[in-house]
Amino acid sequence: MTAEWSPTSWRTKPIRQVPEYPDAARVAEVEGTLRSFPPLVFAGEALRLRAELAQVAAGKAFLLQGGDCAESFAEFSPNNIRDTFKVLLQMAVVLTFGAACPVVKVGRMAGQFAKPRSSPTEVIDGVELPSYRGDMVNGMDFTPQDRVPDPDRLLRVYNQSAATLNLLRAFAQGGFANLEEIHRWTLDFVADSPEGEKFEQVANRIDECLAFMRACGISPDNVQQLRETEFYTSHETLLLGYDETLTRRDTITDDKGWFNTAAHMVWIGDRTRQPDGAHVEYFRGIRNPIGLKCGPSLEPDELIRLIDILNPSNDPGRLTLIARFGSDQVREGLPKLIRAVEREGRSVVWSCDPMHGNTIKSSTGYKTRPFDRIIGEVRGFFEVHEVEGTYAGGVHFEMTGQDVTECIGGAREVTEHALADRYHTHCDPRLNASQSLELAFQVAELLRHRRNGAALGLKQAS
Ligand code: PEP
Ligand code: CO
Repeated sequence: MTAEWSPTSWRTKPIRQVPEYPDAARVAEVEGTLRSFPPLVFAGEALRLRAELAQVAAGKAFLLQGGDCAESFAEFSPNNIRDTFKVLLQMAVVLTFGAACPVVKVGRMAGQFAKPRSSPTEVIDGVELPSYRGDMVNGMDFTPQDRVPDPDRLLRVYNQSAATLNLLRAFAQGGFANLEEIHRWTLDFVADSPEGEKFEQVANRIDECLAFMRACGISPDNVQQLRETEFYTSHETLLLGYDETLTRRDTITDDKGWFNTAAHMVWIGDRTRQPDGAHVEYFRGIRNPIGLKCGPSLEPDELIRLIDILNPSNDPGRLTLIARFGSDQVREGLPKLIRAVEREGRSVVWSCDPMHGNTIKSSTGYKTRPFDRIIGEVRGFFEVHEVEGTYAGGVHFEMTGQDVTECIGGAREVTEHALADRYHTHCDPRLNASQSLELAFQVAELLRHRRNGAALGLKQAS
């Protein structure tokens, strides 16, 4: 694996999940235009996230990654961005407060538009059309016009990502994320729910802490960390042609390497992680922190081979392994991957995606995910790490700030029959705002348990 790398070297490798554009000349034109556009993020920011993830790898912080399965043009609105951001902030506070541990916040936002599909075509009533691959590629309606891959959508993705990121930066740094604003983060429809009330209790305790600290001379007026938050963006880099155009050489920091400037962090999906394939080739050359989805079909030897390619100098924070086994397979499948990584002495962040292994079809025909299985996989993930003596470093959710009915269960139970009420997703079913908050409380409990266990261990050892 010493062959020369360049932002285009992936083009010589076998590739999966590529759309067939009828007009190749237009694709090249659009890519040329995108190449002339400004980067969306800077190398220094990606390196800062990498350093924060190194803290996670060292067991000193926790990663919260979440957002849409697929962003869409139709759902693009300031309110949707604000509400997803609010819920992520609430989840992060619940985790930080519950576990007394810094939380690294990464959105599946501002670029998460392309979807891998299990089949290139879809057949309905004997009519066969290309599968919907996300708004970045084609439209969702089952018509020949909508399903033709259209390269002009790439320009729209760039613009929507830039506008989304701009608003996220304003929210994170413009006063909205100030801890003194905490009572404003709860969405109206969550306020009266058990999770809303539980959050209010946390917020009241944080108020007390802030009042005490203010009396001691520490306040958001003089401490940036209380006034602002760091919020990073991420997406699955699936359409390499797009991400290639935003792959730029760093001219600002001392790093001087190549960075994907479309997001701070990018990940390789479970269907495109072939060691000899185009996606792995692209990823090995960029300096961003990267993720790798690890599903049941990944063998330990292949994982080590992938780590050799993707993180040859074993830098902490470079590689996050996102396990997505399913609640019924995590206890059996995950230990062998952890043992291989430990045996080889590799530094990774272990994160848990409890969404993609737990998708089922409801009796009413909707693709859904039962809340119990989602939390079940998170619990399994923590248990396995406890047994192996390794660090459960983070969680990766598909969620939204909207009051959707896409995943069944939760304290304000969504039943199978209610799925039809507000099923808006463009791809996989997402947790709604109250389910997300409920999950955050349960994960905080697991973190607290781990912390107390560690404290007990120290006491016993002394
Ligand atoms: C996703 O994260 O949306 C996804 C498609 O996941 P996976 O590659 O793990 O199936
Ligand atoms: Co998904």
